[in-house]
Amino acid sequence: MIQCWRLDDRRQTLVLGSHREHLAEVIYWGPRLPDDEDLNTLFTVHAIDVTGGMLDLNPELSVSPEATRTFPGQPGLIVRARDGTQLLTKFCLVRADEERGKLSLVYNDENNGLTYTARFAINTRTHVIEAQALLEADQPVHLHWMSAPVVPAPQLSDEMIDFAGRWCGEFQLNRTAWSPGMRFRENRTGRTGHEHFPGLMIPCRGATNTQGQAYAFHYGWSGGHKMIAEELPDGRRQIQFGHAERMEVAPQTQFQTAPLYITFSDDGLNGCAVAFQRHLRDEIVLMPNAERERPVHFNCWEAVYFDHNLPTLKEIASRAAELGAERFVLDDGWFGRRDDDTRALSDWEVDPRKYPDGLNPLIDHVHSLGMTFGIWFEPEMINPDSDIHRAHPDWALGGEDQILGRNQKALNMALPEVRDFLFDRISSVLRDHAIEYIKWDHNRVLPMPDAAQTRGSYALLDRLRAEFPQVEIESCASGGGRIDFGILRRTQRIWLSDSNDALERLRMQHNAALFLPAAVTGSHVGPRKCHTSGRILDMQFRAWVAAQRHMGIEMDPRELTEDEASVLESVIGWWKENRRWMMDADILRLESPDPAVVAEQQLAADHARFVVFAGKATTSSQIAPRPLRLTRLDPEARYRITLVNRDSAVGLSRGTQTLKTEPVDLSGTYLMNHGLTLPWSFPESMWVIEGLRR
Ligand code: DGJ
Repeated sequence: MIQCWRLDDRRQTLVLGSHREHLAEVIYWGPRLPDDEDLNTLFTVHAIDVTGGMLDLNPELSVSPEATRTFPGQPGLIVRARDGTQLLTKFCLVRADEERGKLSLVYNDENNGLTYTARFAINTRTHVIEAQALLEADQPVHLHWMSAPVVPAPQLSDEMIDFAGRWCGEFQLNRTAWSPGMRFRENRTGRTGHEHFPGLMIPCRGATNTQGQAYAFHYGWSGGHKMIAEELPDGRRQIQFGHAERMEVAPQTQFQTAPLYITFSDDGLNGCAVAFQRHLRDEIVLMPNAERERPVHFNCWEAVYFDHNLPTLKEIASRAAELGAERFVLDDGWFGRRDDDTRALSDWEVDPRKYPDGLNPLIDHVHSLGMTFGIWFEPEMINPDSDIHRAHPDWALGGEDQILGRNQKALNMALPEVRDFLFDRISSVLRDHAIEYIKWDHNRVLPMPDAAQTRGSYALLDRLRAEFPQVEIESCASGGGRIDFGILRRTQRIWLSDSNDALERLRMQHNAALFLPAAVTGSHVGPRKCHTSGRILDMQFRAWVAAQRHMGIEMDPRELTEDEASVLESVIGWWKENRRWMMDADILRLESPDPAVVAEQQLAADHARFVVFAGKATTSSQIAPRPLRLTRLDPEARYRITLVNRDSAVGLSRGTQTLKTEPVDLSGTYLMNHGLTLPWSFPESMWVIEGLRR
């Protein structure tokens, strides 16, 4: 007997089908099918043919491909009995539970005492489908590998895009051509990592940012993932995502994958990007006070590092407030004897040498300036040179002789006493002070991957959030080392990178927008001479790049010239005027005909306005700027186009373009098909263009 199920939203349909109670296969995923499409017919026609040199039937590419059904590729589940014997699973359908937009398929393997469940939920507002797998066992078993429900990848696709990176160089795109065999990514570092953002985009042939079909995947887990993108000998392709292999150290009777977020778009990579941006912002991140505008940050790290001195910090805070900052974040260095990064992590008590009267004199000063106060913690870490390590060396994760990372070890977050200790210390700091924000850091990889560690971190975060629901949390891990939808279920902002270099940020932000909305992406104006690249960039450029996301400042404001301060103040002023709609806007990556230009368009939720940020990363090879096409506008509508920062046109821009002197009205059709011709500009500069629907 054939059984089929479908999940739909306005733009996509996912159809699962199975016969003889075998594990279901995704038999269709793409543009929405007609309501009366006969799914049983789809099931019968989707099978590929058999010829010489093949088995007599093609093994199912199911939600969890099974070796016992002669599947020629990577299986979806590898599990062993307590004694190490491999359990060769053969699941049979027990029941299918369907309710609006949700499907749960439950399977049983009687011989091995296992129950496997594949769950799907489609969000009709955001177009994201969440897929998750669960495994239950009668006896404790060892889980080697479990994929979230497996979906096939499109055949009309020549390449896939996944993500790499490094400290100060997050969100680098890798394009890999499809070929027989597999692309295998496994992150065994125990945290999401700069190197392994758990995402995948599969453009179909000809797809660009703004047009064509594309499929996208994100695994919402902070402990390190594994991804398989495999082309089978028969040409079919499968995508698997799960926790990194063998992360479950102990035998258990229950396991589950993290949610795998997937989406199909028929309007380019932007369709996937917008689905993820909205899903994250509107369905995952919980803002304690959603109505409140995102405050402009001041973070003191690159201003003072560990050198905390009350009068200096007060002076800096006063300058930051004058520039427009609304939240002051006291970074590393306020606790224990933390004079550098060799000591004191986990001694979470205010350092009386630096703060003889505690933190309140600084907090009161910050409040008197109209700013709120935030503070840095790195809860999961411990320096061997700390009072807590001396008292509890057994709380550290990993061996005595392990290689340290930034002179520190990780704490074993699976231990309830470690979580209790951290909860007590953090809550006492939060209770004793008016603190409404935590920057939560995680500066080293784990000595070995361990799912219990990630669950422990999540549990601590959940407990603190329940106790202090008004406190916002920023996820930082040497910059962007822990960015994923799992951590963002518990936090409200990510620190994209330790690089405040606007040029590097421009590209990183562009690529991260494939998943992340502006509202959660922190971006700060750094020092004139960037501390991580040595590059000296103009304030206009630095300020506008930070204004693309959740804006902040991270430098010693006393270094600013009058001119720099006035540019910064005015860009912050512009950002404040626009943040309400921008933080809810869709970020659309534009196709730039000039590779030197990295451009995006932020389109308001009501489509009544937009802003384009056209960053010139380097010198162009052609002499005159090429027109930049906009996207997703109403072709019939007219838009008033204003070059916001036209005053920064340089002398070498000698033409008489209207945009340099006044706004112009143009139709959506013109803007999307011819595009906007911008004035000539220096490299390392940004044009900012506002559009208002008339
Ligand atoms: C690494 C972070 O990414 C920085 O922003 C800063 O908070 C330092 N840690 C503090 O040690």
